[in-house]
Amino acid sequence: MTRDKNRVIIFDTTLRDGEQSPGCSMTLSEKLRVAQALENLGVDVIEAGFAIASNGDFEAISQVAAMLKKTIVCSLARASYKDIDRAAEALKNAVRPRIHTFISTSPLHMEHKLNMTPDEVVDRIIDSVSYARNLCDDVEWSCEDGTRTEEDFLYRTIEAAIKAGATTINVPDTVGYTTPDEYRIMMRKIIENVPNSDKAIFSTHCHNDLGLAVSNSIAAVQGGARQVECTINGIGERAGNAALEEIVMAFRTRPNAIPFHTDIITENIMKTSKLVSSVTGLDVQNNKAIVGANAFAHESGIHQDGMLKNAGTYEIMTPESIGLKKSELVMGKHSGRHAFRDKLKDLGYELGDNEFLSAFTRFKDLADVKKTLYDDDIIAIVDEDMRDNDHIKLMNWSFICDSWQASSATFGMEVDGKKITVTSEGNGPVDASFKALRGLTDGVPTLELYQVHAVTRGTDAQAEVTVRLEEDGKTVNGHGAHVDTLVASAKAYINALNKLKVKREKTAPAAISD
Ligand code: KIV
Ligand code: ZN
Repeated sequence: MTRDKNRVIIFDTTLRDGEQSPGCSMTLSEKLRVAQALENLGVDVIEAGFAIASNGDFEAISQVAAMLKKTIVCSLARASYKDIDRAAEALKNAVRPRIHTFISTSPLHMEHKLNMTPDEVVDRIIDSVSYARNLCDDVEWSCEDGTRTEEDFLYRTIEAAIKAGATTINVPDTVGYTTPDEYRIMMRKIIENVPNSDKAIFSTHCHNDLGLAVSNSIAAVQGGARQVECTINGIGERAGNAALEEIVMAFRTRPNAIPFHTDIITENIMKTSKLVSSVTGLDVQNNKAIVGANAFAHESGIHQDGMLKNAGTYEIMTPESIGLKKSELVMGKHSGRHAFRDKLKDLGYELGDNEFLSAFTRFKDLADVKKTLYDDDIIAIVDEDMRDNDHIKLMNWSFICDSWQASSATFGMEVDGKKITVTSEGNGPVDASFKALRGLTDGVPTLELYQVHAVTRGTDAQAEVTVRLEEDGKTVNGHGAHVDTLVASAKAYINALNKLKVKREKTAPAAISD
């Protein structure tokens, strides 16, 4: 069968490069939810983690591999036997496994990071790629810092990797340094100058340090790449990776200018974006293209007038094409289970029986105190319910905040299954809460951000709180939602403590391992 020459493979690395974002961490069950959502979105390849980085990464890759039947599941590995063995082991139950191995090829990285000569790097490529190929038919090789690699050496390494068995060659712009013209020409010249280039698919992987990640990715496709590596909401190291939704919608909206296509089900973009934002704790900026809260909002009178006459006047794509629905007035306390299940389905949630029961109970509790419930209220309670707070759980609470005594907060908790009570005084109930909860961990986390926003309108709106904690250079964002801002704040702090535990277990691998 001949390959459709304008079809672009979407390689999603939200669970690997995306998870390396400052402040981000995902638990195992959150990673499984995201992996399922990515399969439903129609991505071709999911990079589920870096198997040797931690037991948590290994477990996540193994379980994603066992769960997904359609999508290629991939693990990252440095150019070493140990890394590659660990990746192969994690992928052993995958229907379609891929090992992705990499080594740096730029002079700067080879000298200062790897402390290896160019000849040693080429030998290592041949050795590692052929080793991986003996374990897996689908092997991707990346030349880290590819865009700052000397041209002839780049061709030499790519030729060697293909000869050793790599089926996909990824040329990353690791530090977000290249420009669209430069990268397009580079890709074209690689394909023209590497003698065995017809035996591999070329891939782009762009970081957004200069805000060019999406433009660069599209330029690379124009230069001949047919795989794009990207993340949902553009999350990733430093300024992030290329945003999947922007690339896909650019192809869909401008087929004459950029005549490429993907198999992404674009109507699932919005719910995948919301899920990733919720589980990573990384908010999407309001003016972010495609998935930002303002991306389809028309504020000025002239625009609104035009929109009423013909939506095409100011809208180049429809909100429906990314699955965006207006937040509607939905249900109240008389709504039953059936209606609630239908609403969840409509919002993209398929819950198991226990999860459904728990969400329905919370919905009823909320409906008792809040007259009007919107879609966003439902999303907030389900996300809150599915938040992984396995290690530390909040059971009950009491706050004192009046003019006659010091503020205090008391919480009934369950920590690793043991019931305890913590209490503290403070400068106001939020300070008291955080002081009480801080004692629950062995570490000394510092509070970097405390932010509250209302999920919907009205004084009875649920508060959604974000708490960012930092400990030993590792940051996490915790989220909590509740009609009582103090309870939402405590929940957000507890969620951050649970995420810190996951993050503590993950170590940063060194440049190379033997
Ligand atoms: O940015 C980069 O170079 C990477 C590679 C490991 C592919 O993430
Ligand atoms: Zn990267």
